[in-house]
Amino acid sequence: MNKAAIKITAMVSDDLDEVMRIEQDSFTYPWSKNSFQGEILSNRFAYYVTAKDISDSVIGYAGAWIILDEAHITTLAVDPSCRQMGTGSLLLAYLLRKAIEEGACKVFLEVRDSNRQARRIYERFGFEVIGKRKRYYHDEDALVMVRALEKVKG
Ligand SMILES: CC(C)(COP(=O)(O)OP(=O)(O)OC[C@H]1O[C@@H](n2cnc3c(N)ncnc32)[C@H](O)[C@@H]1OP(=O)(O)O)[C@@H](O)C(=O)NCCC(=O)NCCS
Repeated sequence: MNKAAIKITAMVSDDLDEVMRIEQDSFTYPWSKNSFQGEILSNRFAYYVTAKDISDSVIGYAGAWIILDEAHITTLAVDPSCRQMGTGSLLLAYLLRKAIEEGACKVFLEVRDSNRQARRIYERFGFEVIGKRKRYYHDEDALVMVRALEKVKG
């Protein structure tokens, strides 16, 4: 897929049926549609985006909370049939830019210890493991990762 053809835009309610299909294919404990609704409609600290292909289908999404000088990546997923093409990286890069623009100087996330694919992408983006949250996923520990963000100049 041509990366230039992928559009990243704010997630809206009309995206949620497609988001839910990817969510269910991607996670052992998927979020509900209501959780996404709450995030995009009522959480003023939340930034959720979707990646859409040339035919306007949702192929991935990501979210973050940005509160004062800290950001927290809450989710990142790509349609299984569209992985390994750079979409996850585009979504993550977009959120990191947004966090910098909003004044964050650190970004945190949790990832399953066993999730090698996600850990690789985060490590490629400069995230480092700083700790563990025991039983964060009910069935598994989470690694806590952090990355410093450079300030926007000017
Ligand atoms: C983690 C996840 C979001 C990554 O999405 P993705 O779109 O596959 O990510 P990218 O394509 O940007 O990067 C994945 C790999 O493809 C490679 N890649 C990117 N573009 C490529 C291309 N054009 N050709 C070949 N490889 C490419 C990247 O270098 C990267 O390599 P790596 O495995 O060594 O890191 C995806 O695997 C996913 O949805 N997983 C399930 C949900 C999940 O675990 N989310 C994280 C929760 S913490």
